[in-house]
Amino acid sequence: MGRLNGKTVLITGGTSGIGLASVYRFKAEGANVAVTGRNQEALDKIAADTGGTVLTIRADAANLKETQAALNKTVETFGKIDVLFLNAGIALFAPVEQTPLEMFDNTMNINFRGPFYTVQAALPQLNDGASILFTTSVVNEMGMPNGGVYSASKAALRSLVRTLSVELAPRKIRVNAVSPGPINTPIFGKTGLSEEQLDEFGKQILSNVPLGRMGESDEIANVALFLASDEASFVTGSEYTADGGMLQ
Ligand SMILES: NC(=O)c1ccc[n+]([C@@H]2O[C@H](COP(=O)([O-])OP(=O)(O)OC[C@H]3O[C@@H](n4cnc5c(N)ncnc54)[C@H](OP(=O)(O)O)[C@@H]3O)[C@@H](O)[C@H]2O)c1
Repeated sequence: MGRLNGKTVLITGGTSGIGLASVYRFKAEGANVAVTGRNQEALDKIAADTGGTVLTIRADAANLKETQAALNKTVETFGKIDVLFLNAGIALFAPVEQTPLEMFDNTMNINFRGPFYTVQAALPQLNDGASILFTTSVVNEMGMPNGGVYSASKAALRSLVRTLSVELAPRKIRVNAVSPGPINTPIFGKTGLSEEQLDEFGKQILSNVPLGRMGESDEIANVALFLASDEASFVTGSEYTADGGMLQ
């Protein structure tokens, strides 16, 4: 018996890294999984690899019409949603002094505004007792150079978890976040940093991780699975850190 047997799950940003690992992990636990992303090729690969049993939907997390359509399609296909995992995110790094307005808007639109209004749109489509999950980051609790907008977008999500956990408690909807430390995913290649800067950044990060390594996407999917499942039935408003001890 799977830990999510028969549950309807929608994962945003599941074409790569943590989201992709979660698609397979949640499916293995018996869930009916729908996944969004912008990369059609990656979506097609998920559909092919799962014999079409995972519902793949092309949707930009910053585009409210597209996320509304993704919610509708998920409910039409699998029924009302039990787990909404808002994982889509980008990490663009620059010192505050050199952060263009476009980077600010793009980051906030994808990482915060999109998830905020996706939750709003999802409320009528969620079962009572559902679970909402966000992917935040340890950097919402620490000062990281170049992280001005990215870290703030995750701090905003952390705050939203607190608010929603109280607002949705009457419907027994639990709201939590998984907060990864450095995880080995393609995200680092998209940060806007040069190879040299990335190398330096990687060394600096690893020197602050007591376990001495990057985490893997599966290790975050495992925490997300726990928070999404009934095993976490008394957990709401929380942020669970998985960072190899970095914040300590
Ligand atoms: N890796 C880390 O060290 C780390 C640490 C802390 C937090 N996180 C957070 O973990 C989450 C997943 O990141 P990851 O490391 O797994 O990175 P990743 O491999 O780059 O995956 C990011 C996912 O988000 C999707 N995405 C990005 N922008 C999107 C948009 N506008 N609309 C829809 N989907 C979008 C991407 O899909 P498409 O390309 O198909 O659009 C992809 O599936 C992010 O929220 C990130 O901030 C990561």
